[in-house]
Amino acid sequence: MEADQLVFFVNGKKIVEKNADPEMTLLTYLRRKLGLTGAKLGCGEGGCGACTVMVSHYAPRQQRVLHSSVNACLAPVCSLHLSAVTTVEGIGSVARKLHPVQERIARAHGSQCGFCTPGMVMSMYALLRNNPCPDMSHLEDAFQGNLCRCTGYRPILEGYKSFTTEGGCCGGGGKEGGCCLTNGNKADETLTNGNEDPGESEPLFQPSEFEPFDPTQEVIYPPELMAL
Ligand code: FES
Ligand code: FES
Repeated sequence: MEADQLVFFVNGKKIVEKNADPEMTLLTYLRRKLGLTGAKLGCGEGGCGACTVMVSHYAPRQQRVLHSSVNACLAPVCSLHLSAVTTVEGIGSVARKLHPVQERIARAHGSQCGFCTPGMVMSMYALLRNNPCPDMSHLEDAFQGNLCRCTGYRPILEGYKSFTTEGGCCGGGGKEGGCCLTNGNKADETLTNGNEDPGESEPLFQPSEFEPFDPTQEVIYPPELMAL
């Protein structure tokens, strides 16, 4: 590795940039140079979260990989040296297979115009990479930097509640204390329409039909970065 080279990974692919522009943001680099247009330019000043991506680093003292949701509109591309960047394109797609984080926001009607959706997805994804069993307070903290002009947030939070201990998936919240993904979810009724009586109206979605989330199947941190 030469001293004047910027080296980082994007969605598992190694990038070696010899002429990095010190004024270029990560968002501009992703969209213009790599053609990854999933992260959106909303406010351009860190206020809306539409540009959110996940940045991962290996922390030698803790001997673990730390993941952060980052506003790509604010991060200079030069700050990414020896990091791994994951964009919404890197976790799943309609052509391949949607990641559960993408599937659940769609099925819960948490995406309308869709402009905020990649950022919402990546904030949730970064949270799950650090903590596969979050609770609702973790989830609310994770979305503090994401704005949505369309949905009123409720369908997003209700869909993503299914990842939390309160939502049942990680807390033995299924029937008789089992897993809601295999034996139904006692929280289904309140997750779907906030109504304790499912007979009063049709539920918008059934969490028990969601693809299971298996943290062991996620993309690994590039081993090469640990050696550098
Ligand atoms: Fe709004 Fe980056 S574009 S926070
Ligand atoms: Fe339109 Fe969130 S779905 S801004």
